Amino acid sequence: ADRSVQVKLVLLGEAAVGKSSVVLRFVSNEFQPNKEPTIGAAFLTQKCRLEDRVLRYEIWDTAGQERFHSLAPMYYRNAQAAVVVYDVTKASSLEKAKTWVKELQRQANPNIVIALAGNKIDLVQPSPSSSSSISSPDTEDEADDATATPGESGAEAEGENLRQVPRDEAEAYAQEAGLLFFETSAKTGEGIVEIFTEIAKKIPID
Ligand code: GTP
Ligand code: MG
Repeated sequence: ADRSVQVKLVLLGEAAVGKSSVVLRFVSNEFQPNKEPTIGAAFLTQKCRLEDRVLRYEIWDTAGQERFHSLAPMYYRNAQAAVVVYDVTKASSLEKAKTWVKELQRQANPNIVIALAGNKIDLVQPSPSSSSSISSPDTEDEADDATATPGESGAEAEGENLRQVPRDEAEAYAQEAGLLFFETSAKTGEGIVEIFTEIAKKIPID
């Protein structure tokens, strides 16, 4: 018999923040640069292995476009977990995430485990070749000059400028609201498995 526990999980968040991409990365370890908007919702499943048990996630990936908002309660009703996604390059998407969290805390299962995920972190990170935070602070001017891409301002050179939501700010909000917190990239895979693993650890064994 299949001893794995089923866990119903819903993804919510503003349109185009990357909900479907986060799920695609988790379920298939793939990324599609031009993913089409979700209509209504999509349903996917994926197992998640912990040291002592296996969970089977039943995932409802909802549509972020405003015209679909009224459908959301059908998907978060009875959900044991929710991932509320925002885009670190779009401040308004964190505000939208906060309204989803409020709605969940009012209307969903009172024991629901909620994770907040700041996605598209790849767009705000320096390129892998540039100096890490480990380098000594007194070399910062030279380090920047040495690693910046010469010529046109490329994506790497813009880097941190694209960030509209400081990590500290979102993390402080998450802590205050009692949420798990992650910064993620569906594109590179950073932080994606962690969301689902950390949620799994918080789902009570029954
Ligand atoms: P709706 O279904 O309309 O609510 O959108 P969604 O939240 O499911 O967003 P979706 O996954 O469709 O992604 C929207 C766009 O952002 C697509 O072009 C994705 O390829 C892109 N995208 C998603 N995640 C990332 C990421 O981590 N990094 C980058 N650079 N782009 C991403
Ligand atoms: Mg989608």
